[in-house]
Amino acid sequence: MPIGIFDSGLGGLTILRALQQALPEQAFTYLGDNANTPYGTRDAYDVFDLTTRGTQALFDRGCDLVILACNTASASALHRMQVNWLPKGKRRVLGVFVPMIEHLTQRDWGDNAAPTHTGLENVAVFSTQSTLDSGAFPREMKFRARDVAVVGQACDGLVDAIEAGEDAVAAALVKIHVDKLLQRLPEPQAAVLGCTHYPLVEDLFRAALPAGTKLVSQPDLVAQATADYLTRHSGFAEIGGTTYLTTGDVAEVSKRASRFLGHGAEWEKIET
Ligand code: DGL
Repeated sequence: MPIGIFDSGLGGLTILRALQQALPEQAFTYLGDNANTPYGTRDAYDVFDLTTRGTQALFDRGCDLVILACNTASASALHRMQVNWLPKGKRRVLGVFVPMIEHLTQRDWGDNAAPTHTGLENVAVFSTQSTLDSGAFPREMKFRARDVAVVGQACDGLVDAIEAGEDAVAAALVKIHVDKLLQRLPEPQAAVLGCTHYPLVEDLFRAALPAGTKLVSQPDLVAQATADYLTRHSGFAEIGGTTYLTTGDVAEVSKRASRFLGHGAEWEKIET
């Protein structure tokens, strides 16, 4: 069975690409809910509803392991899914949030020891409004690390600009949102791009942030964490290619996705 990768739209392709590089033989099925993007301006009930529908569609296509390649879904729906929705059995749903926090706090997977001083004093988090509202990042951080100031900045409009391929708008928005954050935290020690769409404009964030700020790359960390997970749960591994599914307009999605994938792909439209 392929591993299912789910996002509200094109952003999860940044995670998929890193996974394809780390696990070149593994079969994947990607689903972008382009018909309903963006999720980042929706409330938690809506995000839960859409995310469970997308995850179910991937389960129905034989993916027993689904990765929510979307911070908004990981932050506001994943916990509720695991507690109240996921049937007991072999199926699993993982998020993209925790690997990044484990990296920042130098923790191994599942290390639930008391929080420690890690040397990290502050971190800037750029995300959607829903992810910011969920409070998930500071909460997960506090479980592991003491005395870290987490300063969040919602990047309104950025996902839409990236999805639409409006490069000049995206560049202007990154500058505005980074400047707003720097007014509150002038020299961030580390910065997290807490939305899977944002690595597509990582160079803009890099240029707008101070040179001393360490920019954390979520796709590589998620790929590494998934490769480690598969060594412990080899039943989820299967050799094969990638299938691309979307709830949106196939012609439009394939045109935009090629820019991000670096190659063309055959997309199939599905309902969730
Ligand atoms: N790419 C997603 C994330 O990581 C969702 C963005 C959106 O749909 O607003 O948050």
